[in-house]
Amino acid sequence: MAVREYTEEELQLFEEIKNGRTFEKDEELPPLYKKALKNLLWMQHDSEYSGSLGYAPWIDKAPTMQEKVIVAQIVKDEMRHASVIYKLLEGLGENVLGHIEKSDLAFKSEEDEANIGFKRLKEDYRVNIFYYGINYWEDFILFNFLMDRAAGHQLEDTLESTYLPWKKGIEGIYKEEIMHMAHGDKWIKILANGDKKEFLQERLNLWWPRVMNIFGSTKGRSNDLYVNLGLKKRTNAVVRDVFVKEIQEMCDEAGLILPEYREEDQPQR
Ligand SMILES: [Fe+2]
Ligand SMILES: [Fe+2]
Repeated sequence: MAVREYTEEELQLFEEIKNGRTFEKDEELPPLYKKALKNLLWMQHDSEYSGSLGYAPWIDKAPTMQEKVIVAQIVKDEMRHASVIYKLLEGLGENVLGHIEKSDLAFKSEEDEANIGFKRLKEDYRVNIFYYGINYWEDFILFNFLMDRAAGHQLEDTLESTYLPWKKGIEGIYKEEIMHMAHGDKWIKILANGDKKEFLQERLNLWWPRVMNIFGSTKGRSNDLYVNLGLKKRTNAVVRDVFVKEIQEMCDEAGLILPEYREEDQPQR
């Protein structure tokens, strides 16, 4: 969101939120709050929706029957997450079906090794990691291992959101994301102990900057606005540090090398 000075009214709103003010469905929302909330909901909706579609081909391509069932469950979970957010957006007066119909949420980049940095490839709101194709089983697993973990950390903040309908919806979503993550963790160990470890490392090198980029520029101020509005608890920079520490430990354990990441080296918007 654009950087500008806050009005007296807005500063007072931050203060009230700090002191425990929350918002209910059908309540008239302060304009700044409503705009920020809608931003986050649109981002989540399009991410869940395009995530589900990106996973779907792996129902057929998963290596065992048991895994096909697990992948199908994950595909269903993600579309259900999208539907929860869909309802919240509709409640805020947004035309979500119209947006789905005119967007190309199934779109995936054809370039296997691209790094788009902070860029967007379409006119939608998805977190930009969802533009990349999931081309190998290792990618699917890395998505669970990295992205579901990152999402889990972000959703952890939403568990305490000041927008109560979202807070309520997120409880089930959070639990399911934790299951997806556990699936990734289980498979990272299997793959790191197998004969495709080198390939797993190659794909990790590719996906690492992509997932780090989802935290955006850690210098931006907009994230503090979300904190001020009680829509997030921690800034992206803080969540990113917790996430990196966890991944570093797990990679050490699995004998994988976490590549170096520098925000300033990433292709900019
Ligand atoms: Fe999800
Ligand atoms: Fe997930």
